[in-house]
Amino acid sequence: DTTRLVDRFGRIATDLRVSLIDKCNLRCTYCMPAEGLPWLKRAELLDTDEMNRLIRIAVEELGVTTVRFTGGEPLLRQDLVDIIAATAALPSRPKTSLTTNGINLGGFAEPLMRAGLNRVNVSLDTLDRDVFKQLTRRDRLDDVLTGLAAAKEMRMEPVKVNAVLMRGINDHEAGDLLRFCIERGYQLRFIEQMPLDAQHEWDCSQMITAEEILDRLRREFTLAPDVAERGSAPAERWLVDGGPATVGVIASVTRPFCAACDRTRLTADGQLRSCLFSTTETDLRGPMRAGAEDAELMRLWQETMWAKAAGHGMDSGEFAQPSRPMSAIGG
Ligand code: GTP
Ligand code: 5AD
Ligand code: SF4
Repeated sequence: DTTRLVDRFGRIATDLRVSLIDKCNLRCTYCMPAEGLPWLKRAELLDTDEMNRLIRIAVEELGVTTVRFTGGEPLLRQDLVDIIAATAALPSRPKTSLTTNGINLGGFAEPLMRAGLNRVNVSLDTLDRDVFKQLTRRDRLDDVLTGLAAAKEMRMEPVKVNAVLMRGINDHEAGDLLRFCIERGYQLRFIEQMPLDAQHEWDCSQMITAEEILDRLRREFTLAPDVAERGSAPAERWLVDGGPATVGVIASVTRPFCAACDRTRLTADGQLRSCLFSTTETDLRGPMRAGAEDAELMRLWQETMWAKAAGHGMDSGEFAQPSRPMSAIGG
């Protein structure tokens, strides 16, 4: 009988999101400034053994069944393949997945698949090279497309594509992105922009809402609600033109899904977060480096989750943007 990560509202966290590094090789305007951010120092990052230890505790002792690796950009972490191999080989055989910008995925798809990675989600906001350059401040669209194709070839399915629409920049591309993904067998999800940018420039009135995205798509496609069980998935899905193709919308702002949340988060510097929008973190690195036993780390993890808020509070005026940006939390 495993000990579990439960909170005061009866939710059980079985999905661990691990941010492996805060650095990124793109500079998406909705995420970070052109000059980058004050990155974590090497000594602040958990090393391979520390990461593997905490992931093992989560999976083998605390009931976590799926582990997603994020960043920053997780492919920039040298030991990514080792960490994934160690996670996939745990006796409980957790499901593993990766959220990446796709840039180095062309070369990494095969070693990742061999290490036991089950799935990848790739960020792709535009199919237009100039728009990509403007939005990410780098000319790397072709690398992303190569990465996506490599993931598909390795059958890490479903390969999901995440797109954030920005008013006046790429919001005219919703239909093109959907056709592109359907043709290639990628599962597209549009994401409402969240107040998690390093610059604190997020503006509710600029955000393209789920309703707007769906209205736009309905001009070119017929959409019917997908009756498949949603569970704790952030994305609401629609069947496109009768199916089997689908499109998803992750409406964190206008249709929060916190009541069904099953997530717990670990940052690259060994801090636990009960929520993407938590305003507090629990340090595991300090205790771990001071010699804490597994039981002590488990207790800290359980206490952290017990204190998880009911929701992010964006709908109630309670909301405060977390002190760290998305790129340091892991999305
Ligand atoms: P799947 O299991 O493949 O559906 O993964 P996912 O959609 O949960 O993960 P991914 O890393 O691809 O994230 C897609 C978007 O959902 C990103 O913008 C995340 O920040 C957002 N997201 C992921 N988890 C949560 C969450 O618990 N709460 C909120 N509000 N947004 C989340
Ligand atoms: N709001 C919503 N999504 C965001 N992403 C990055 N920053 C934000 C934000 N502020 C997206 C990335 C990637 C996914 C993991 O999260 O584009 O697709
Ligand atoms: Fe879970 Fe927090 Fe995301 Fe809501 S905002 S779904 S509680 S992580």
